Order: sequence, then C-alpha cells, then structure tokens
Amino acid sequence: MTAFTINGRAVDLAVEPDTPLLWVIREHLKLTGTKFGCGIAQCGACTVHVDGEPTRSCITLLQDVAGMEVTTIEGLSPDASHPLQQAWIAEQVPQCGYCQSGQIMQAAALSVPAGAGAGGAQRLNSEVPTLASLRSSRSSE
Ligand code: FES
Repeated sequence: MTAFTINGRAVDLAVEPDTPLLWVIREHLKLTGTKFGCGIAQCGACTVHVDGEPTRSCITLLQDVAGMEVTTIEGLSPDASHPLQQAWIAEQVPQCGYCQSGQIMQAAALSVPAGAGAGGAQRLNSEVPTLASLRSSRSSE
C-alpha cells in the first residue's frame, strides 16, 4: 500500500510501487486530465505538482510520492477558474490542446514557486524572460 494525497484527498493504493505515477493517476484514480506524450520526461504533457514542484509523472514512480502531496490539472481549480486557466482561454493559447494541462501545470509552478512567498515570485518574475525582452534581445543581435 502506498499512501499519498492527490488534489487534497488522501489515498492509499494497493498498486505495485514501481508503477509510473502517470498510470496511477489515469488508470487507478481515473483523473484523465494528465496526458501521456513521450514517456521519457521530454514533452511535459504529464506534468503534475509533487509537493508544489512540477514533476514529470511519466518517469516518477508511485513509491517516489509516498506521503507527498500530488496536484493534477483537476486539482488546480475545480472549475477552470485558476488565473492561468482563465488567461489560457482569454489568449486562445491551445492549439491541438493535447499537452495543455502539462503546460498549465508547469506555468503554475513557475508563477509562484512552492514556499517562495511573494518575494520568491517577484525574484522569479525578474528572472523569467518576457516576450518583450526576448524580442528586444533578438533585435539587438
Ligand atoms: S509524457 Fe512526455 S514528459 Fe512525460
């Protein structure tokens, strides 16, 4: 049995501990918002948060999250009201849409790092290139 918390709900699963977390989320917990893409931690479609850190669930084993807090796209907000989800909709970000949940989870972790507080978010925001700064650096080359 492996116990952890997912989207605020405690679970204790009788699943082989070396099962990829992605399969546990999709097949055992029936949370299908997290997607399988490459299976080798390259594409990000499977990104979830583990204790607030963006994590590729395709290469993370169930035993790796014992006692930890896992958040999937379903746990980011129950009704798509998270500011990032609203921005995604307003800016019409999705193209085919397949990897959107992974992209949103990665972006959500970047916007406010776990335990960083407001100071961390400000520091991070000053380090993340903006579209304007990228354009500026390209034009000066
Ligand atoms: S499925 Fe591509 S990074 Fe996990």
